Amino acid sequence: MKTPIQGFSKLSKEEKIKWIADNYTDNSDTTIQILKKYWNQDNELQKLHDEFIENTISNYYLPFGIAPNFLINDTLYAIPMAIEESSVVAAASKAAKFWLDKGGFKTRVLGTQKIGQVHFIFKGPSEKLQEFIDAINPILVSDCKSITQNMEKRGGGITSIELRDRTHKLDNYYQLHCKFETLDAMGANFINSCLEQFSSTLKREALTYTSFNEGEQRIEVVMSILSNYVPECLVRAEVSCPINELEAEQSVSPEEFAKKMVRAVDIANVEPYRAVTHNKGIMNGIDAVVLATGNDFRAVEAGIHAYAAKDGSYKSLTRASLEDGIFKFWIEVPLALGTVGGLTSLHPLVNLALEILQKPSARELMQIVAVAGLAQNFAAVRSLVTTGIQEGHMKMHLLNILNQMRASEDEKKTLVAYFKKNAATHNAVVEALQNLRNKL
Ligand code: MEV
Repeated sequence: MKTPIQGFSKLSKEEKIKWIADNYTDNSDTTIQILKKYWNQDNELQKLHDEFIENTISNYYLPFGIAPNFLINDTLYAIPMAIEESSVVAAASKAAKFWLDKGGFKTRVLGTQKIGQVHFIFKGPSEKLQEFIDAINPILVSDCKSITQNMEKRGGGITSIELRDRTHKLDNYYQLHCKFETLDAMGANFINSCLEQFSSTLKREALTYTSFNEGEQRIEVVMSILSNYVPECLVRAEVSCPINELEAEQSVSPEEFAKKMVRAVDIANVEPYRAVTHNKGIMNGIDAVVLATGNDFRAVEAGIHAYAAKDGSYKSLTRASLEDGIFKFWIEVPLALGTVGGLTSLHPLVNLALEILQKPSARELMQIVAVAGLAQNFAAVRSLVTTGIQEGHMKMHLLNILNQMRASEDEKKTLVAYFKKNAATHNAVVEALQNLRNKL
């Protein structure tokens, strides 16, 4: 029988480990051994990780890989990716190489506005509320001066504060719908601090607003928080080339391949079951770069999927066309990213990832991340409409299967060579390893 624990966070790291090992795992010694194996030898670095979150007992590694040869707006990038899925970096690298001699990727930032809202209840006429908000607008802004002054010096800050009447959705429900320019910062803390100040100002000013009666003076703020839906923080990435330059896999002609690509993207545009998987492939690329650069992939995921459903049904994030002999393939995605603040200066690998990317601004990082998503989608759909996904996927997964079966280095070498020429299914790998072992 398990019992709850009081004050877990106050225990030392060793005590926490012992408690979890004794109470929630079968073999305490093994548990302790595994957890400690992932501790960093460098005490200072380990302490840094310990302090990122509460109750750290170990580190959870992901592979940190590089997809080279990305030509983006005529600059060459090697893109760092943090991801566990075997085929993702290989697919990105392959797509980068494919487009390298065809002009590479062209990208454009379409907007950088971020959103935050103060959600509140007002029991009075909406016209009166609008007059009040118009009257206090300068006070809302000036009360935030201590928060915004540095951002303003760099050209950012609060860009608009708008009252939104949502009473048709929920009785007496209104919002201050606010926009922000946060430059190279992701800006979550900046935005949330401004919003909490707006909330205080709103409540305080309402209490003395003479046109309000007593009931109206008591504005009830429910919450103040940024939105991870950022359709105006948007970036576009595109590739294009004459159809006859499109080398497909296997014996598919460039024309046939181009048509199949467009058809596959069209299907993802009209069929949500396919769109979700299609977009998952895009997120393979996006998340891996977002994670490597220390950005919040949950925020990015939530915002992108909401954007994919903005027309009322869930659709593909990419589009493809064939016009005048040109194949064009593009993506538009909302990406609220930062290259300063947060983990960016704290985490040595994040710092390194940004250095490898030539110290991008947030706008540049948006473009690189969108390219990673587009490249990943191109590689996945290219395989899907030609060879099928399993051939490449299983080749990359091969080492995972061999490691699971505790293959020796020699066995791995032999079987990797064997599966260069043979189809690698799970059973085929198991069988080939058994055959190899039986021969000895
Ligand atoms: C697998 O991680 C991603 C794919 O399923 C994406 C797709 O189907 O487009 C291959």
